[in-house]
Amino acid sequence: MATIRDIAKMAGVSVATVSRVLNKKGYVSLDTEKLVLDVIDKVGFQPNSAARVLAGMKLSTIALIVPDISNPFFSELARAVEDAAQKQGYTVFLCNTDNDDTKEKAYIEALIKKQIDGVLFCTNTLDFKMVQELKQKDIAIVSLDRAIKKQEFTVIQSNNFEGAQLAVNHLLQIGCKKIAHIYGPQEYGPARDRLLGFESIAKHQEWYTPSLIVPSDFTIDGGRQAVNVLLDRHPDIDGIFAGNDLIAIGALKELHLLNKKVPEDIAICGFDNIQLSSMLETELTTIAQPIADLGKLASEQLIHQIKKQNIECKTFELDVHLIERASTQKAQIKILN
Ligand code: RIB
Repeated sequence: MATIRDIAKMAGVSVATVSRVLNKKGYVSLDTEKLVLDVIDKVGFQPNSAARVLAGMKLSTIALIVPDISNPFFSELARAVEDAAQKQGYTVFLCNTDNDDTKEKAYIEALIKKQIDGVLFCTNTLDFKMVQELKQKDIAIVSLDRAIKKQEFTVIQSNNFEGAQLAVNHLLQIGCKKIAHIYGPQEYGPARDRLLGFESIAKHQEWYTPSLIVPSDFTIDGGRQAVNVLLDRHPDIDGIFAGNDLIAIGALKELHLLNKKVPEDIAICGFDNIQLSSMLETELTTIAQPIADLGKLASEQLIHQIKKQNIECKTFELDVHLIERASTQKAQIKILN
């Protein structure tokens, strides 16, 4: 692979001149610039990160800050962000905060020191002071999935409200007569909108009572614990809408241990469509978020901001869709009986 020195030698110019051409900074005559670029095209020169830094070129870098990298939703989202960013020549730093504000602040300080060009926040805990510090450093910000409270940013998220309505209507259509919802932490916008979407349909059903709604965190254990609370309150439920796929996976596990059949006794629908949801023994019906599209759009919007190609804040709400699998295929069993 040719180095910056090889290019300089082949073009008969100094390394500094090649660096000015690569950086598009400082004076270079048009003839010399054309000469250098022709040599670069001929040898297919790709400045590696170290060479770019040595040649004084600032690396183009963005960061993705996620609250829980152990949740496959965020690792699948990170994959999509990185694929789109790399296509535009940006390196991605992945930061996991474990939902800890102090950890997030430490990451942000480190990213500022690294002169990061932009940050995608999947956390919603950024405070006003940190926002001001990032803006003063001209660091672009886009909010992804969990919109940052009361702050003016471009937001990329799924239509969580309509997704919840899709889930409940599907459970009603397969014949469920009493449906519960295990909801995620209400400090997160997606969890709030899914609860509101569930209530917008369930509240009009004659079986509805608020005790059919149970809190959880977005984890497998949270789903397992919530199922026990639900069955203690309502042993006769025959449908569950889980606030995300990990909650649904925990619920499936607990129902199996309680000798409850899914979907015959209780049908379950999740939310996210992480890859795991289709690998389970009872494959999970879920509301699919367009995870790859979310990541790609967020990267593109952030890079547009970095390049000052768009400055107005916009909210993008991407459609979700139902993926029907074994955990709700009750109708077929009904027809067979
Ligand atoms: O599974 C993690 C959840 O938190 C997802 O549903 C996503 O929307 C995020 O907010």
